[in-house]
Amino acid sequence: MLFQTKFAALLGFAASAVFAMPDFPGGICTSPLIRKEWRTLTTAEKSSYINAVKCLHTKPGVLAGHPSHDGVTTRYEDFLSEHKLQTPLIHWVGHFLAWHRLMIVRYEKALREECAYNGAQPYWDWSLDALRSNFTESPIFDPVTGFGTNGRWDPDEPHLGPGLTGGGCIYNGPFKDWRIGVMPGAATGMQDPKGCIARDISPIFPQMHLRPDQVAAVNSQETFWDFELYVNGRSMNPEEFGMHIGGHASINGNMSNPYTSPTDPLFYMHHTNLDRVWWNWQKHDSSYRLFETGGTLGPRVMETYNGPPIPGNSTLTTPISLGFLGGDQYSVMAGQVHDIQGRNRKVPGLHPSIKGILCYDYADPPTQ
Ligand SMILES: *[C@@H]1O[C@H](CO)[C@@H](O)[C@H](O)[C@H]1NC(C)=O
Ligand SMILES: *[C@@H]1O[C@H](CO)[C@@H](O)[C@H](O)[C@H]1NC(C)=O
Ligand SMILES: *[C@@H]1O[C@H](CO)[C@@H](O)[C@H](O)[C@H]1NC(C)=O
Repeated sequence: MLFQTKFAALLGFAASAVFAMPDFPGGICTSPLIRKEWRTLTTAEKSSYINAVKCLHTKPGVLAGHPSHDGVTTRYEDFLSEHKLQTPLIHWVGHFLAWHRLMIVRYEKALREECAYNGAQPYWDWSLDALRSNFTESPIFDPVTGFGTNGRWDPDEPHLGPGLTGGGCIYNGPFKDWRIGVMPGAATGMQDPKGCIARDISPIFPQMHLRPDQVAAVNSQETFWDFELYVNGRSMNPEEFGMHIGGHASINGNMSNPYTSPTDPLFYMHHTNLDRVWWNWQKHDSSYRLFETGGTLGPRVMETYNGPPIPGNSTLTTPISLGFLGGDQYSVMAGQVHDIQGRNRKVPGLHPSIKGILCYDYADPPTQ
């Protein structure tokens, strides 16, 4: 109970404290932002995205100095730290995809409004790369027009899986000199003095979990619960990772840390693709699936990260909180982010004053 109370207080989870600040204003969604696959962007578009991400890491963080956000100094670290703080409440739960959907939308908004980016958040369709003879040759890892490649070989790192050749800090690409002050994992109380971005790219996990036939099989998962298990994985056994953990384990390094995976800007490329996978499932049979929900309210794997169980299932009224990421405390109900073009539209089953907030769409990936 102490655990729940602590987080309830931190996140404004008390039933009376659902704030719907106008963080995403606007009328009905008539001209959605179109999110594109990374390799379909022009070189200029790629570089304007990367420059905006780099810009976020130069702006002062709004959470800097906040007692729950040790180590934060930059705006980029705000998003990382909020994810870290909420990790026990937003993973292995039914509202996992809803929470990350809202996080990405808020990140995209920061890139656009605080760093003069005028595109949409891109996605990385890893299924296009999963069966390459050399996964590391994906354009996403290009040192000039992408996110850079592997980390340096580090024999002391616990290499998660066979065939791994990195584990240390990345040494090329636009983020090679980044220093992140947030401590890894759940650790708090100080600033990380070295904090590079580390990767240990795997040739095995993409073949196991990110294949085109697996993406195609998603839409035949009829219920949200089956879909959630399929995408989010059944357990921490590497055979059962599913495409969420499978994508994290394909990059490894910081990406394999459930708390601080947003250290690596590839986090947003992976999660935006997962969001697209969810959207494709939702629109496959939109009359039934658009507002389908379920799954557990507390983590069904990793217990409750050492806390007591949280009973019940996620619903359309489950609070999705961004904490103080936007400056003011911000929280919506999960149902408000189910329809990605649902801005200002009613949500079935919710009070008529509580409307959808989103306005974006996905362009299809290139055909292989
Ligand atoms: C895979 O490609 C990367 C990047 O081009 C290269 O550094 C690496 O040596 C290649 N690995 C193999 C096994 O060919
Ligand atoms: C990222 O990984 C590096 C290398 O292992 C580590 O020193 C750093 O603390 C990690 N940062 C975070 C925020 O997890
Ligand atoms: C939660 O959902 C699961 C799967 O649909 C179901 O078996 C279970 O009874 C539900 N639990 C509650 C408390 O509604």
